[in-house]
Amino acid sequence: MPASLRAHYRWLLTLPTPPPRRLLDVGAGDGRLLQVAADLGIPHLTGLERKRRWNPANRDFAPTIADAHRLPFPNDSFDCVVENESLEWIKSPIRYLKEAARVCTPSGLVITDDSDWDTLVYAVRDTALARRVLRAFCDTGPNGWIGRAAPSLMRQAGLRDIQVHVRVITEREFAPHTLGHHQAQIIDDWLRQTGNITPTRLDDFQADLHHTAHRGDYLFTLNRYICLGRPAPHSS
Ligand SMILES: C[S@@+](CC[C@H](N)C(=O)[O-])C[C@H]1O[C@@H](n2cnc3c(N)ncnc32)[C@H](O)[C@@H]1O
Repeated sequence: MPASLRAHYRWLLTLPTPPPRRLLDVGAGDGRLLQVAADLGIPHLTGLERKRRWNPANRDFAPTIADAHRLPFPNDSFDCVVENESLEWIKSPIRYLKEAARVCTPSGLVITDDSDWDTLVYAVRDTALARRVLRAFCDTGPNGWIGRAAPSLMRQAGLRDIQVHVRVITEREFAPHTLGHHQAQIIDDWLRQTGNITPTRLDDFQADLHHTAHRGDYLFTLNRYICLGRPAPHSS
């Protein structure tokens, strides 16, 4: 796991006070957040994914295969429900957030943690090409502005006492284990598939990244928007 991401998850998981005992991660992917949660000693961990064949490397949690729009848990099952980078893929974020509020106890917290793709920065020489590539990624992906939309979505889902934090993920190293390197690959794959930028221009962008890193001038930053909200008391 990239060091910048591990540090981010550690920070995020120390936001709820008191620390959660029953944590649900929706759209858990490889279970990276849950791995950090286990390291922090959070005792009851559940991960949920919609993938039919889900085989996460990390096994520190109870895996559940289900859809985020219909969480298969009774009311008040958790004292923290979190998602990272999944909201943009969930068809109805408000419906999901209502479900998250239902399965979370009213004294607990629902947390969203999402990048805003319009805040992606790579320091490279060809700034015009970087602007084209990053804008195309933001505008053709599922929801490039989900980070900045999250507080409003939480409010519309009926969550209360909403707090918003912004963290800038920052890296100066371009290497396979870094987030910026991984993200550049996702951008490349995505834009080759959608055809919005020609393969030659994508090759130019990749080469520019490598040259910049070689010169020691590389910088990657990305804004993550973290929202915390409390569920309203459930009417029985
Ligand atoms: C970009 S990945 C993020 C994975 C992980 N949270 C992380 O930050 O590394 C988004 C994940 O959300 C899952 N997902 C998308 N829509 C979902 C839904 N409706 N219900 C459950 N999981 C969903 C996808 O299968 C995918 O694993």
